[in-house]
Amino acid sequence: MQSQTHDTKALGYLKQKGIESAQVGLVLGSGLGDLADEIHDPIRVPYEAIPNFPTSTVEGHAGQLVYGQLGGQTVLALQGRFHYYEGYGLEEVTYPIRLFKDLGVQTVILTNAAGGVNEAFQPGDLMVITDHLNLTGANPLIGPNHPHGPRFVDMSQTYSKKGQALLHEIAQEMDLTLQEGVYTWLTGPTYETPAEIRAVRALGGDAVGMSTVPEAIVARHAGLEVVGISCITNLAAGMQAQLDHQEVMEVSQRVKPRFKQLIQTFLTRWDCEV
Ligand code: HPA
Repeated sequence: MQSQTHDTKALGYLKQKGIESAQVGLVLGSGLGDLADEIHDPIRVPYEAIPNFPTSTVEGHAGQLVYGQLGGQTVLALQGRFHYYEGYGLEEVTYPIRLFKDLGVQTVILTNAAGGVNEAFQPGDLMVITDHLNLTGANPLIGPNHPHGPRFVDMSQTYSKKGQALLHEIAQEMDLTLQEGVYTWLTGPTYETPAEIRAVRALGGDAVGMSTVPEAIVARHAGLEVVGISCITNLAAGMQAQLDHQEVMEVSQRVKPRFKQLIQTFLTRWDCEV
């Protein structure tokens, strides 16, 4: 039940570990978790040690919270996220976002691996998320309203305009191709069919994936600024011969250095207060 404002047990445990507040929350997608290794003075807490925290099962997801300094900001990174397709309820999937809010986080950076639907995209491209399509029919806010925010949430500007502009500015300086577009959430765990991908394209989706949207919804409900970045690991179904998780992991490994530099530079210039 979404009734408690604060999870006092989890917050108490984290406080005891030296984690009382942070400015930026980072959710690291498939193959992108290594960014948390760049965090200075890290305090690492395995998910299973945190009271009420769900635990991650998927290969390539480490399953720990990493707290410390990155790009001059106090960050809290999720190395491994919870997916709806693993069987978690959306309240569990988005639990870390609620915790971020309770720890004073003002900005969340949501990252993921995604299939490219836009025909101009190449595997290995990074894409700034400008908006999303939720094609699952599920919504993490269904149920009693959580005290973090209003019953009916305005989603007119889900992904921070300022954040998007800053990412583009940095990418230009890095000479990095940075795509932008609409991220489409489908539940998985199957990859999509070619017909589904044609439908997504007709509906205005540029990329497709199995995460991020529930976290973005809860973050907006809680009044957080949201920045979203997809790593386009493959062309979506029907646009290339076949899809497999191995390729997703290999491409995200290859993109990781650029991804890390982009995020770290972003943090050095991001003003949480604005
Ligand atoms: N579809 C859904 N999720 C994904 C894909 C894809 O093609 N690639 C990486 N995650």
